[in-house]
Amino acid sequence: QTGLFTYDPGFTSTASCDSALTYIDGDQGVLLHRGYPIGQLAEHSSYMEVCYLLLNGELPNKAELEDFNRTITRHTMVHEQLSSFYKGFRRDAHPMAVMCGVVGALSAFYHDSTDIADPLHRKISSHRLIAKIPTIAAMAYKYTVGQPFVYPDNKLSYTGNFLKMTFGVPAEEYEVIPAVERAMDRIFILHADHEQNASTSTVRLAGSSGANPFACMAAGIACLWGPAHGGANEAALNMLREIGTPDRIPHYIERAKDKNDPFRLMGFGHRVYKNYDPRATVMQKTVREVFEALKVTDPVFETAMRLEEIALNDPYFIEKKLFPNVDFYSGIILSAIGFPTTMFTVLFALARTVGWVAQWNEMISDPGQKIGRPRQLYTGPTQRDYVPIEQR
Ligand code: SDX
Repeated sequence: QTGLFTYDPGFTSTASCDSALTYIDGDQGVLLHRGYPIGQLAEHSSYMEVCYLLLNGELPNKAELEDFNRTITRHTMVHEQLSSFYKGFRRDAHPMAVMCGVVGALSAFYHDSTDIADPLHRKISSHRLIAKIPTIAAMAYKYTVGQPFVYPDNKLSYTGNFLKMTFGVPAEEYEVIPAVERAMDRIFILHADHEQNASTSTVRLAGSSGANPFACMAAGIACLWGPAHGGANEAALNMLREIGTPDRIPHYIERAKDKNDPFRLMGFGHRVYKNYDPRATVMQKTVREVFEALKVTDPVFETAMRLEEIALNDPYFIEKKLFPNVDFYSGIILSAIGFPTTMFTVLFALARTVGWVAQWNEMISDPGQKIGRPRQLYTGPTQRDYVPIEQR
């Protein structure tokens, strides 16, 4: 006999939170970081500048940005023993499995900055995470392709350094292509933070218990990996490649509408946006820029644009308010730059680290913060007595 206990409407949910970092208006398709529209930041800013903005609340002046860059650059190396950690994984391990493991292990190497009660320690571990995540991500890629790790080159920009650690090899000079560096930096900006999404809420909930920031970020990475969340960029490109040519689109549109079919249009729909995801607008423009810079093309881009056009004119998608989200076009760019699909969510995690760190700092610095404890609506049996096994 299942029955509901009286649901106490009086308790206040601990799931929601106050935050001054990011504002989203899902109906209008608006995304602001500390008041600045994502389109303007993507157009005029750099990822390092957006990191400073998210962490400190204001855009930096020239001296502040140079100082911040210097601080981050100083932390790009990882403990040499951490590189042995990778050898414990199979070569064909998904790079996100490697990221979960290695980032979770960071507190074993940098425990000197895990005292979260000390604002200076919080600042050092925040900078360490933002600085080291590109190195760790590049190493995860190198390990899966069997190439030697490439050390950071601190003469390069944050993003240029990451591209060189990923695609450079010790035997040759590596030249960062400015247009690719710009596109990659813009992709990082578009993924930096996004209010209380699933992985950010995971980081906040883990952090609310006082867990060290490295462990909290590993929890965020684990949550982001899911195909309904950050894993959608990998799933979206795989879907577009499976669709192949535009004539096959109607079949997939019908599948996406069929409630008995688990298939969903990857890169479409959103928990909050019931309008066009402003990040997808910038992403689509960036596809064209990268294709032009690299003198490449990919027929899957035509398929993606045709799929968007058909879906946006389909009564089901109109009624359900389903639009392309940040993941719909990003994989096309990343693939053109040379990343395998398995690295797409790693890149999302790399870029979102600043958002997770900024949200964690905001929460842990609040003197009134308490451990998160979401409640439930109990739907199980009402109280009953134990039945001895002989009578069952
Ligand atoms: C990210 O939260 C964030 O901010 C996340 C993120 C970030 O930056 O952190 O923006 C990043 O995760 C973007 C989303 C990436 N995921 C995908 O692209 C996967 C494909 N999308 C779907 O799985 C889905 O849209 C979700 C999971 C994103 C949202 O699912 P919901 O909450 O069910 O969406 P909804 O309530 O708006 O759905 C309305 C209806 C539902 O049908 P009914 O129950 O009303 O009959 O539309 C259906 C859904 O089943 N629907 C889809 C669909 N997405 C929703 N139908 C077909 N294809 C889809 N993609």
